[in-house]
Amino acid sequence: MGWTGGSDCAFGEIPGDAGSEPMLSPIISVENLSKRYLLGHKTESRERYTALRDVVVRRTKSLIRLAADTVRGQQVLFGDEVEEFWALRDVSFEVQSGEVVGVIGRNGAGKSTLLKVLSRITDPTEGRITLRGRIASLLEVGTGFHPELTGRENIFLNGAILGMTRQEIRQKFDEIVAFAEVEKFLDTPVKRYSSGMYVRLAFAVAAHLEPEILVVDEVLAVGDAEFQKKCLGKMQEVSRGGRTVLFVSHQMAAVQALCDRGIFLSGGRIVKQGLVGEVIRHYLSESDQRSQLCLVDRHDRQGSGVLRFTDVSFYNEAKENVGSLTSGAAASIEFRISNSSGKTVRNVRVCLAVDTVFGQRLMVFSTHLADQDFAELPAGAFRITLDIECLALIPGRYSFNLYSTVNNDVADWIRNAGYIDVEGGNYYGNGQLPTQDQGCVMMRHEFKLRQGD
Ligand SMILES: Nc1ncnc2c1ncn2[C@@H]1O[C@H](COP(=O)(O)OP(=O)(O)OP(=O)(O)O)[C@@H](O)[C@H]1O
Ligand SMILES: [Mg+2]
Repeated sequence: MGWTGGSDCAFGEIPGDAGSEPMLSPIISVENLSKRYLLGHKTESRERYTALRDVVVRRTKSLIRLAADTVRGQQVLFGDEVEEFWALRDVSFEVQSGEVVGVIGRNGAGKSTLLKVLSRITDPTEGRITLRGRIASLLEVGTGFHPELTGRENIFLNGAILGMTRQEIRQKFDEIVAFAEVEKFLDTPVKRYSSGMYVRLAFAVAAHLEPEILVVDEVLAVGDAEFQKKCLGKMQEVSRGGRTVLFVSHQMAAVQALCDRGIFLSGGRIVKQGLVGEVIRHYLSESDQRSQLCLVDRHDRQGSGVLRFTDVSFYNEAKENVGSLTSGAAASIEFRISNSSGKTVRNVRVCLAVDTVFGQRLMVFSTHLADQDFAELPAGAFRITLDIECLALIPGRYSFNLYSTVNNDVADWIRNAGYIDVEGGNYYGNGQLPTQDQGCVMMRHEFKLRQGD
């Protein structure tokens, strides 16, 4: 595991050798990079919320934490159960100066982890990264800024992290504020910002502080259409100015428009890299295949077997078969089920239960709850469509379980039958996009203010 160049240049100067061969050396070079997470409750909660700002103080803090844990008599690395998980495995690629590279892949593929490792927010477990330029990152909403500091203070803090002098930051200050449209809130702590304001400022800071490498994760998932356009324009401008951009997005149209090259990650590995159009085509064809989960080969199922789930597919608002659903949009889930008992069965119940990927039950869709149990189901194969008017899940990956009963006896039960991937969308109808730190589900709501006590 190691960093070369990057350890000196990520937040400081370009190392001397960059000047001698600037055209030949890639600005980013990643060799056999792997990142392992230890899935114990402590490790997970500690790493998840690491922000750019924390890099500055992390060494001190981790020592303090280590001491505090030891004093409290808690084990530092061994939680209740510690399990290894490789979020990146043997990832190698190079990026030339001035290239705009799109990193794509399904939820959980390792995209954000890759950007975090490149930004030195988290350390690689194995492999080697060489950066020949100063890097600025805009990672998930919620990272990068200190919530208690004002917008103004955060601009200066981020500039300082990037190794800029106060004078240099001051020169960029007005431009940043104008781009972010947060003039009125400059002296408000950013924890009071809406997620839209927050990301506007974070993007403005990252894009204007003139890094040689700009790393942007999902900024287009937040903000209204106009802001998204502005961001794309700014990233184009940054790249035309000869700087390098690494961009993660689920919006293929944006990736196609902005990027020259693409990297498709799946399960922490690079599946394909190359010209962006080809990489996107490959990605889309894979997600189509996966959305049709073939359940017939699953043997880890329980129940009498009178009924069997054979397939599940997901459809978007436009009734297109898709690999992921969108928050706030209509969705349909189609089950294929077969009754191979040779006779009509009665009183049939079908359920789909949604869990977090850590196995916590979130909700259940059920013919019983909808008062739609099937009185009779003849022998044969059937399709059952479940229509959801407005998907109230926060973007992320969920696991689902399938369950059916005939006359209250379990007929077929598959735990972890597959995943539901949910992309960001305009659930609240006002451009406020939910973030993963807001839990898993949303509910539309309204506040009223009345005078009196
Ligand atoms: N701090 C952490 N501790 C443990 N596991 C983690 C941690 N951060 C990420 N992971 C896991 O690593 C995998 C890759 O996560 P990552 O956030 O990089 O995915 P992603 O491609 O960015 O997904 P998305 O499209 O949903 O943003 C996921 O399975 C995730 O649960
Ligand atoms: Mg991500």
